[in-house]
Amino acid sequence: MKKTIIGNWKMFKTQADIKAFYTIFAKQIKNKKIDVNFGIAVPSIHLKYAKELFKEIKNVLILSQDAHYAKEGAFTGNISWYQLQDLKIKGSLVGHSERRQMFGDTDDIVNKKTLSLVENKMLAIVCIGETIDDYQNNKSIEVVLNQVQLALKNVAIEQMKNIILAYEPVWAIGTGKVPTSDEVDSLISKIRDLIKKLYDDKVAQSLTVLYGGSVNNKNIKDFFQKDNINGALVGSVSLDPNNYFSLLNWNGNL
Ligand code: PGA
Repeated sequence: MKKTIIGNWKMFKTQADIKAFYTIFAKQIKNKKIDVNFGIAVPSIHLKYAKELFKEIKNVLILSQDAHYAKEGAFTGNISWYQLQDLKIKGSLVGHSERRQMFGDTDDIVNKKTLSLVENKMLAIVCIGETIDDYQNNKSIEVVLNQVQLALKNVAIEQMKNIILAYEPVWAIGTGKVPTSDEVDSLISKIRDLIKKLYDDKVAQSLTVLYGGSVNNKNIKDFFQKDNINGALVGSVSLDPNNYFSLLNWNGNL
């Protein structure tokens, strides 16, 4: 399966920073045949600007970092899937651990956000992952499978083509610590077993599952050697255009 690499810019960058990123990245990527699916989840305030700026770059996905499940309403400070659609944004991250930990996104809210996106034919990149305590107590599988099951509640089989899962151990995000590629590979195979039970084998095998958490230009190759790991969700390394480009060039073909 073609690998997928999604950058997550979190709450970084001004418009000038994005312009500077684009100028370098556009030069890097020009005339190159990119053999990965790629995108960037940008701060919502910059979605319109980034979408317009990146329009010359073929197939780049400009994504949101979150999307409220209501179409519209009295939700001060939020943005909805409907407003994203209006900007022709094709999808959003959902349930990033920073949203879960700092903004009260429960499993139920994550499920509602996921459903609202796929029901409206948008892509939901659903993040799941265990804490360091869970990891140390050998609870990673139990915690992650539970999160997957709750996030996908009532998602119909035909909507699964609009789901990407991103396995991001909370303890690996922004810390420089990573699980081994074998650990990630085996956890994702457990996720596929669950998806097979909930849906069918075809859905389980065709589902894109990313790894995220301290991915960089050095360790990406090791993760990508595993068939179960279909790509990466990358935070800090995606902020720099040269580094982001070298992620896309993970196999040195460009
Ligand atoms: P990181 O962030 O690559 O900086 O660890 C990953 C993420 O939060 O998605």
